[in-house]
Amino acid sequence: MKFFVDTADVDEIREINDIGLLDGVTTNPSLIMKSGRDIMEVTKEICDIVDGPVSAEVTATDYDGMIKEAAVLEKIAKNICIKLPLTLDGLKACKTLTGRGMKVNVTLCFSANQALLAAKAGATFISPFIGRLDDLGVDGMELIEEIRVIYDNYDFKTEILAASIRSADHVKQAAIIGADVATIPPAVIKSLAKHALTDKGLDAFLADWAKTGQKIE
Ligand code: G3P
Repeated sequence: MKFFVDTADVDEIREINDIGLLDGVTTNPSLIMKSGRDIMEVTKEICDIVDGPVSAEVTATDYDGMIKEAAVLEKIAKNICIKLPLTLDGLKACKTLTGRGMKVNVTLCFSANQALLAAKAGATFISPFIGRLDDLGVDGMELIEEIRVIYDNYDFKTEILAASIRSADHVKQAAIIGADVATIPPAVIKSLAKHALTDKGLDAFLADWAKTGQKIE
């Protein structure tokens, strides 16, 4: 499973990338707003840090506007992936842009039929939002399961990018189902390494080690 980090905070991206865990980055207009940075400037900085795809989202809602904005975003770096909303205009733009060889992440997916359309439009990634479905009392993970079945039925190459991930359990469930990618907030990525028994075991080893009076040097 590939790990993307879901943030536009360059310090956090650098930290996760330095650990060697990063395969890409996803941003969106809300994350750009949260960063307080200029979209072009911060996205360029992110693309310089990370080798993998960096999703940058258009804000136009009509086809022509999306294509124009994609042309601007595309110039930022070679690893830009254009993020488009799952609307009819977004699907049309997806078909055009992937036809030109660009990577496209179709976002704001909340149903299996939407994911089917994105695959038919040639999307590189489909982003089903797990947490926002959970917020409504719907099991977001069922959507990942449905999309996995549909994509496997027809051998669609579109990668399932589990998004709106809020917890370590979301990551585990998405991995069990076979999502190709998870885009994860930095704090959740770091939390995956934590286990109370790891901390307890390490404390015990270090306490015993101190009693030996030895050093490894
Ligand atoms: O990748 C989409 C993600 O940023 C949405 O997450 O937590 O705002 O639903 P959230």
